[in-house]
Amino acid sequence: MSEYLAVVACGSPLAARVHEIAEAARKHGWVVRVVATASAMNWVDAEQVERVTGYAPLVEQRRPDEPKRFPTPGHVVVCPATFNSINKLATGIMDNYAAGLVCEALASGTPITIVPTVSDALWGHPAWEAHLARLTNAGVRFVDPGSGRVGDPRPTGDDVVAFNPEWAIPTGTAARNG
Ligand SMILES: Cc1cc2nc3c(=O)[nH]c(=O)nc-3n(C[C@H](O)[C@H](O)[C@H](O)COP(=O)(O)O)c2cc1C
Repeated sequence: MSEYLAVVACGSPLAARVHEIAEAARKHGWVVRVVATASAMNWVDAEQVERVTGYAPLVEQRRPDEPKRFPTPGHVVVCPATFNSINKLATGIMDNYAAGLVCEALASGTPITIVPTVSDALWGHPAWEAHLARLTNAGVRFVDPGSGRVGDPRPTGDDVVAFNPEWAIPTGTAARNG
């Protein structure tokens, strides 16, 4: 299995802690690359990401003449994952680099961990329940950012401050199976 872990940050305040997730993952032996959506960059501390991983966050697709920037990851962690990006993944929309990386992982059977930060107000959207079920059935491992609980995503509120970066890190069988 590839030793590379792609940590994908979407546009929610928890993206400010993506370097902490990268740091925790490195301690578990992963070689980490941080990928961010354009919205996530409103929160991501690019200097801290570079300090921890040795590389700036990847936001844009590579140029056509540019070689692949890192090997196919053995696992993809999406943390924080927005309502927008989760719905896009469930429907196969890949309109930015981060979305493409996660769609390709899902399509090719690469294990995926998703830490959703989605408020109560959005939880009742008519597409949401079906999209969560579709991704769960496809093998995605959901981790609740307020408790670390696996497999039972819930709406987030202020409890997200309790998030422990260790919760997002795939270890043992979770690393291989998602
Ligand atoms: C201050 C602020 C906080 C936000 N927090 C969240 C959030 O916690 N969860 C979420 O799904 N969207 C949140 N959003 C909205 C997303 O940033 C927005 O839907 C964006 O288009 C997501 O893009 P992305 O999925 O490509 O990162 C927030 C927006 C702002 C301005």
